[in-house]
Amino acid sequence: MKTFRFDTADDLCDRATTTIERIAAEAIAERGVAYIALSGGRTPRPLFRLLARSETIDWQHIHIYWSDERCVAPTSAASNYHEAEAFLLRDIPVPEDRVHRIEGERLPLDAADAYEVMLRETLGPEGRLDLILLGVGADGHTASLFPRHQALSESQRWILPVHVSAEPPWRITMTFPLLNAARHVLFLVTGAEKANAMRAIADGEPFPAALVQPTDGTAVFLVDREAASLLP
Ligand code: 6PG
Repeated sequence: MKTFRFDTADDLCDRATTTIERIAAEAIAERGVAYIALSGGRTPRPLFRLLARSETIDWQHIHIYWSDERCVAPTSAASNYHEAEAFLLRDIPVPEDRVHRIEGERLPLDAADAYEVMLRETLGPEGRLDLILLGVGADGHTASLFPRHQALSESQRWILPVHVSAEPPWRITMTFPLLNAARHVLFLVTGAEKANAMRAIADGEPFPAALVQPTDGTAVFLVDREAASLLP
């Protein structure tokens, strides 16, 4: 498990920003476009603010996706799209048709099916995103893949509707087949409430976040001092 530790969340987001700038530039140079999935939750907010100020990211050549979404309206404060729109999307010149929102307002199965079709049309059979940002929950979940959930054993579908023990309970999530096809996965983990999960992951516990292991790519954990406090 490749981990980089930072004194503060701001230092972590600075590193995440330069990493994202590099990955985006490499993808655009090599393939003319970069496919990037944003994570949910509140950890990415300061990162979104920094990305919105980046002077090197060529947003015109970037497609934006989400690793997961809550089954709520896009105007809801619980919506991962709403969070990204408020702190990043409204401030960058990404073409509207390259912002691929998960339609949380639809029936979960319909939203999941539609997102999977769109992804397969955009990415082709390999399903290889250039970068997926992810968080880690205090219970070791990532995206909306929660411990002991049957979605963890999905081997074909890229996107699933899941009913989980968190609020709101219905969500749409990327599955391991898609997560592990990525070129780069970047976990952002901050706060003392994540320390136990990070220690368990480091100890080899098969938490969902520990099972994101790209078959031909990298997975890196960026962890602040508080979240790393129990790591050896
Ligand atoms: C979500 C996320 C989820 C999140 C973790 C960490 O929709 O909530 O995708 O996996 O990244 O729960 O959340 P925080 O960043 O709020 O701690």
